[in-house]
Amino acid sequence: MVIGETDFLLDGEPVRILSGALHYFRVHPDLWADRIHKARLMGLNTIETYVPWNAHAPRRGEFRTDGGLDLERFLRLVEAEGMHAIVRPGPYICAEWDNGGLPGWLFRDPAVGVRRDEPLYMEAVSEYLGTVLDLVAPFQVDRGGPVVLVQVENEYGAYGSDHVYLDKLVALTRSHGITVPLTSIDQPSGTMLADGSVDALHSTGSFGSRSAERLATLREHQPTGPLMCAEFWDGWFDHWGAHHHTTSAEDAARELDELLAAGASVNIYMFHGGTNFGFTSGANDKGVYQPTTTSYDYDAPLAEDGTPTAKFFAFRDVIARYAPVPDEALPERVPAPTPAVDLEFSLSVLDAAEGLGSWTASEHVPTTDEVDSYTGFALYRTTLAAAQQRVLSVGEVRDRAQAMLDGSAVGTLDRSRHERTLSLPGGPEGVLTFLVEDQGRVNYGPRLGEHKGIIGPVTVGGTEVTGWEVLPLGLDDVGPLTEDVRAHGGPVVKGGAVLGPSFVAGSFEVDEPADLFLDAARLGKGVVWVNGFNLGRYWSAGPQQTLYVPAPVVVAGRNTVLVLTLDGLDEAPVFVPGLDLGHEEQ
Ligand code: GLA
Repeated sequence: MVIGETDFLLDGEPVRILSGALHYFRVHPDLWADRIHKARLMGLNTIETYVPWNAHAPRRGEFRTDGGLDLERFLRLVEAEGMHAIVRPGPYICAEWDNGGLPGWLFRDPAVGVRRDEPLYMEAVSEYLGTVLDLVAPFQVDRGGPVVLVQVENEYGAYGSDHVYLDKLVALTRSHGITVPLTSIDQPSGTMLADGSVDALHSTGSFGSRSAERLATLREHQPTGPLMCAEFWDGWFDHWGAHHHTTSAEDAARELDELLAAGASVNIYMFHGGTNFGFTSGANDKGVYQPTTTSYDYDAPLAEDGTPTAKFFAFRDVIARYAPVPDEALPERVPAPTPAVDLEFSLSVLDAAEGLGSWTASEHVPTTDEVDSYTGFALYRTTLAAAQQRVLSVGEVRDRAQAMLDGSAVGTLDRSRHERTLSLPGGPEGVLTFLVEDQGRVNYGPRLGEHKGIIGPVTVGGTEVTGWEVLPLGLDDVGPLTEDVRAHGGPVVKGGAVLGPSFVAGSFEVDEPADLFLDAARLGKGVVWVNGFNLGRYWSAGPQQTLYVPAPVVVAGRNTVLVLTLDGLDEAPVFVPGLDLGHEEQ
């Protein structure tokens, strides 16, 4: 693959890239083939994916490729479908993904630079890119594989203008045997295209409207070579507490038509968004912290559960005017089974804690990063002196802290509302505990890499509270925790209440594996696992109502459910027949 005067050239022949974004890390691996096949049925010839550094390397020096992180297997499936692939390994990927893909551990040392030519940052980037590029190199098209393009960085012009950094990333990429064209992506506006690219990179644009105008700007910036919209935004993501975004299929199809009529190549962002399973979603913060929802449906052509939407068919009709589209029927959505969930045992988080980690002592209140924890939940505790009245203040909570005094709930501090102060009942000496949730690291803008947990100092009546202990809750493998809840928890009485924060173990039964949709949104805030698979966060803040349970997670017969209820509950979550992503703007 090379960049020609006006086209991408493959073996000397002009090719138009009709790509769809599909992040392997947001789809259950047993469903990759299905989603890739459906992309081809919409008329696409290429699959694009980012690579999330932090998911592959939860600890420095590691590069996980098991299960849902098996990038090689994903690329082989793309190849098996007769499609090409575009790989975007970052190191920064944005993508509404925790910290834009940058590992939390990278920022343990405050001297580390972000997205610029800073030696500590570059050393870690070289380790990561070296590993991922060595993995990708054999899959390039000139070696008989599917990969036709590799992107360097991501919308760099919206963040910085360090061209030495970009040149070094290019050199690094080439030194690991990447021979296909390297691209950059930027919004065609202001100085972003110029800031975000260097000579060795072919510039592409990211936009979702006014296609002709944006392509003209791109052409001004780069007089020759193929025009490409490498992120054609066909929908949008959601924040907790806001509306569910949708866009008209008709308008999106018209924009796509305009792009294709101009002869441009395209990567539809997203073709299939999937789900931010577990604790993987990112957040935005432009003065107000806005965590991203668990669903990454994106109002894309293929919905979160893999069913084609009106946008799928509208796009297929447009693509058919420019390229051959396979004539194969697509499966229709059937209502999902709705088995009843039995909640059986519950154990408070405080009682379960010691089985999930160990306490680390610290004189001043530490961030969770300082105790080497970069995701999920952590408990903080300290002893408060006897006092008649207590007003407690924290520097900041990242991102939500539930306070308990001698085990009883006394209030919550929420970063989205800039809450910093709590009135605590007066009384004798007592143990203050916070359950702190990292709701996702900011993935765009200058807050990348910021630490999580409680940002000190913590004061009572203006005097610093010292003598802290922190216990990050290890929730990667909840098998032992589920057994602990069953062995040491109290039975859940039907119609009775479980106080939060607690873990609740239960089960449900189905005849055969099927996609399921769990509605927990009425139950406040928490997390649900099915058979140990972390479905992600639920929250009555909405908009999303349902958590998607992919069929491969479900077994015929009894299935286990584990709920972390932060607010408490007095009823079980319910299965509903289909996806419900919540209220839309009127
Ligand atoms: C930009 C980024 C993507 C994503 C989209 C919004 O284009 O490059 O990673 O964040 O915005 O969905």
